[in-house]
Amino acid sequence: MDFDKVGTYAAEHTTADSELVKELIAASKEDLEHTDMLSGRQVGQLLTMLIKISGAKRVLEVGTFTGYSALKMAEALPKDGQLFTCEYNKRYEDIARTFFEKSDEGSKISLLMGKALKTIPTINGSFDFVFLDADKINYPKYYDMIIPRLKEGGVMVIDNVLWDGEALQPEGEKAEAIDQLNKQITADELVEQVMLTVRDGVTIVRKK
Ligand SMILES: C[S@@+](CC[C@H](N)C(=O)[O-])C[C@H]1O[C@@H](n2cnc3c(N)ncnc32)[C@H](O)[C@@H]1O
Repeated sequence: MDFDKVGTYAAEHTTADSELVKELIAASKEDLEHTDMLSGRQVGQLLTMLIKISGAKRVLEVGTFTGYSALKMAEALPKDGQLFTCEYNKRYEDIARTFFEKSDEGSKISLLMGKALKTIPTINGSFDFVFLDADKINYPKYYDMIIPRLKEGGVMVIDNVLWDGEALQPEGEKAEAIDQLNKQITADELVEQVMLTVRDGVTIVRKK
């Protein structure tokens, strides 16, 4: 099976992004040399579905990039929903803020600039839903920091858990950190989880 073709076919048969989200993707591609950090339609729509199905209201995202997944999640949240998203790169911030301001759902989003390990503790309260998609090397630290603040029944989605297959036989620091987190989740009796082979690997964790 040709996995690139399968991925394209799956994306084509997944609900399309809103016009504004499509505009954000186009603007990101125009302004930046590389946009492969965008999580893409399958992951974006998975987040949308999980937020709607779970009725989540308070969301934390670690890793905004240009705002694709944040905007997808804000569009899925109810009117009184809140989304906190963490980023440290000014160039990405400018694009994200432009589109958050353009969106009718943008008022739900608070963008926190700075290293996420420092900014997450400044947010009060607990979370119904978390999307972890920033620096892979700190994945285990983010998990330890966030899981106590995830409500019972709350969901954490973690992207890139396969790291292009390198997590299976990790050699570099990033692959090792991802594999460490994958093992940690598997051993964690406080949660149940499923690792999906969607795109670069996505784990859905539910706190019992
Ligand atoms: C994979 S991208 C996020 C993609 C985004 N979730 C989306 O779907 O479009 C990861 C982002 O995390 C940011 N990042 C990396 N390390 C960070 C840190 N320590 N604190 C805050 N942001 C960080 C990067 O600048 C990058 O924009």
